[in-house]
Amino acid sequence: MNAKAKSNDLMDKLVSLCKRRGYVFPSSEIYGGLTSCWDYGPLGAELKRNLKNYWWNVMTNRRDDIEGLDAAILMHPQVWHTSGHVAEFNDPMVDCKICKARFRADKLEESRCPKKPSKTPLTCGAELTEVKQFNLMFKTFMGPVEDTSSTIYLRPETAQGIYVNFLNVKNSSRQKIPFGIAQIGKAFRNEITPGNFIFRTREFEQMEMQYFVHPDEDEQWFEYWRQQRWEFYLELGITQEKLRWHEHGEDELAHYAKAAYDIEYEFPFGWQELEGVHNRTDFDLSRHMEATKKDLSYRDDRYTEKFIPYIIETSAGCDRTILTLLVDAYDEMEIKGEKRVFLRLSPKIAPIKAAVFPLVKKDGMPEFAEKVYHELKKHFKVFYDVSGAVGRRYARMDEAGCPYCITVDGQTIEDETMTVRDRDTMEQKRMKVAEIIDFLKKKTTI
Ligand code: GAP
Repeated sequence: MNAKAKSNDLMDKLVSLCKRRGYVFPSSEIYGGLTSCWDYGPLGAELKRNLKNYWWNVMTNRRDDIEGLDAAILMHPQVWHTSGHVAEFNDPMVDCKICKARFRADKLEESRCPKKPSKTPLTCGAELTEVKQFNLMFKTFMGPVEDTSSTIYLRPETAQGIYVNFLNVKNSSRQKIPFGIAQIGKAFRNEITPGNFIFRTREFEQMEMQYFVHPDEDEQWFEYWRQQRWEFYLELGITQEKLRWHEHGEDELAHYAKAAYDIEYEFPFGWQELEGVHNRTDFDLSRHMEATKKDLSYRDDRYTEKFIPYIIETSAGCDRTILTLLVDAYDEMEIKGEKRVFLRLSPKIAPIKAAVFPLVKKDGMPEFAEKVYHELKKHFKVFYDVSGAVGRRYARMDEAGCPYCITVDGQTIEDETMTVRDRDTMEQKRMKVAEIIDFLKKKTTI
């Protein structure tokens, strides 16, 4: 199998596992689905919640200098004129005059011709139009009248909600520079070529943090945040060799950035951006100050002069991190001649922390196992399974990403100990319920 086929094969297996185990479903599937839109199922919703909690914990709860925010998706339309998104948030686009397909002009080599999927628009004999600029913002109308005065945008990034609340957060929290504001929320982009499952979609979630600093200290904080964000992915258990930095060249820098680095991951379809760390200078606050005439400059008793803070931004995609976690965790092994799938998610973010099984449905084992299940449920997301041979139950939980399986057997009835099996080492240790609670707390606390 060549590299391309191998990559498609892995993505196909992952998409199918996600559907089978309830991680991710095609959106509106019974209507034939909706391109680039996906729904998180029971395990996916739990994984996403765990990831967001983890990020929130690292970025806010563990620190004293970052406050949280949850701003509205719909914002005053002038915000997007001021931020430069109406004029400049464009992708170059071309149409094929033959099959009418639309492509990103800067990604033709990565695109597929819909009529000849083995070829790109450069090799399929396409007749391409001149390059046009396509604005990525979704528009809608606010209120009962649909005209240009009621046009409103779905936010293409969560960051602007933070900038327009800079004064509110600073005044209410009494934070002093340097300090940050963190936010998790939906963003929308009318991408020309969405794809690769949940990698590039038109509706997605961002986990963004804006850190306000003195202009003389921007470079040192930029380095600090690059380091912090790199460590976040290692702490999540992502394979270090599959991560790398990409520095934006002059031609790649967004309209607001002085410097930018992406953390990239090696997906089955190649190295791609996972998160951006940007030095946005005073661009955003200056523009909003000019547009609103509100004083967004900063002063405290440590400085003789007022200044407009510089902003170091860390901008991660939640759905893209979920895809990274799933790809990185996917593993296959042959056990006793049978191909088995393992989802080796870190216990800290795994949707189900442990499964409880009675070895057999007799001799008091189900009753004991149910009691253990209800005890553990007070602390963790756990699952109870009594159906099928114990080997099959292990296999189902391995594929669902559950790190520990607890089995109640004959010895349990005598001494109250149960086996705790580790998904990755397959080692089994005997513990009583109180020890299991301590053990799981240690392994799963974020
Ligand atoms: N506020 C800065 C900003 O939005 P960006 O590099 O355009 O920067 C940040 O986006 C992150 O958001 C990306 O690194 C990616 O993880 C995620 N992202 C962007 N567009 C996306 C899309 N269409 N689908 C899924 N995630 C996306």
